[in-house]
Amino acid sequence: MLDGKVAFITGSGAGIGRAEAVLFAERGADVVVHDVNADGADETAALVRAQGRRAHVIVADNADVKRMRAEIAAASATLGPIDILVNNAGISGRYLPLEEIDEATYERMFAVTVKGAFFCAQAVLPGMKARGGGKIINTSSDLAMTGSRVMSHYTASKTAMMGLTRAWAKELAPFRINVNCLVPGVTDTDMPSEEVKTRYAGVAPLGRIATPREIAYACAFLAGPEADFITGQVLSPSGGGAIVGM
Ligand SMILES: NC(=O)c1ccc[n+]([C@@H]2O[C@H](COP(=O)([O-])OP(=O)(O)OC[C@H]3O[C@@H](n4cnc5c(N)ncnc54)[C@H](O)[C@@H]3O)[C@@H](O)[C@H]2O)c1
Repeated sequence: MLDGKVAFITGSGAGIGRAEAVLFAERGADVVVHDVNADGADETAALVRAQGRRAHVIVADNADVKRMRAEIAAASATLGPIDILVNNAGISGRYLPLEEIDEATYERMFAVTVKGAFFCAQAVLPGMKARGGGKIINTSSDLAMTGSRVMSHYTASKTAMMGLTRAWAKELAPFRINVNCLVPGVTDTDMPSEEVKTRYAGVAPLGRIATPREIAYACAFLAGPEADFITGQVLSPSGGGAIVGM
């Protein structure tokens, strides 16, 4: 269903991004694998190639706009213009209360998540416009829907991803570029602590946390032709966690 598409997935050297890269490759896409961690990116690229698809690796900090622009141009020259952008790269850091979030921690959160996503979208836009369409999927968090007891800087950055989604959906609709927001609940990756995973499984209506593959299925749906008439929307594969919160 993603046959012949070129997908660029930020932060795909592990976790949810890796699961998305592998599923997209299974469905026929070539993948630009990106991560700040070179080993993780290489491992994901090997998994993409094992599906018989092409992979191009970018090792760069998502917050480094100049470097990312150059790398995205190089990736497009190798694999072709990008049809699908998944803004997945993110950090959670420690579970900090409001008074312990210092300026540097706050700025780093927004630089990696919001600034990174913003300028990745800007960089892929000319190619999408030239090809007559595209798909952008921004990754948020269910905390942006329910609020969080700690790490409000993370929650704020993830809420910004929803704002970008709605703004870009309107701005880019004339170019047939769909923009949607993927809102995972707690997922079995290295990001959440074991305590959070256990607590979430206890409150989510479906009684467990997600696998990365389950998040990837929702992402692949938004990236594929079945979602051609969906834009500006939020989709939360969270076992119902996004309607109750922690
Ligand atoms: N796991 C969860 O429970 C959960 C819940 C809601 C939302 N999310 C969101 O899903 C996305 C993926 O999370 P995950 O659980 O797979 O996390 P993860 O930590 O397993 O993987 C994130 C990947 O992003 C990379 N990365 C981090 N900072 C980067 C940077 N500055 N530049 C480039 N790469 C960078 C990491 O090296 C890592 O490979 C994130 O945006 C996260 O906020 C995760």
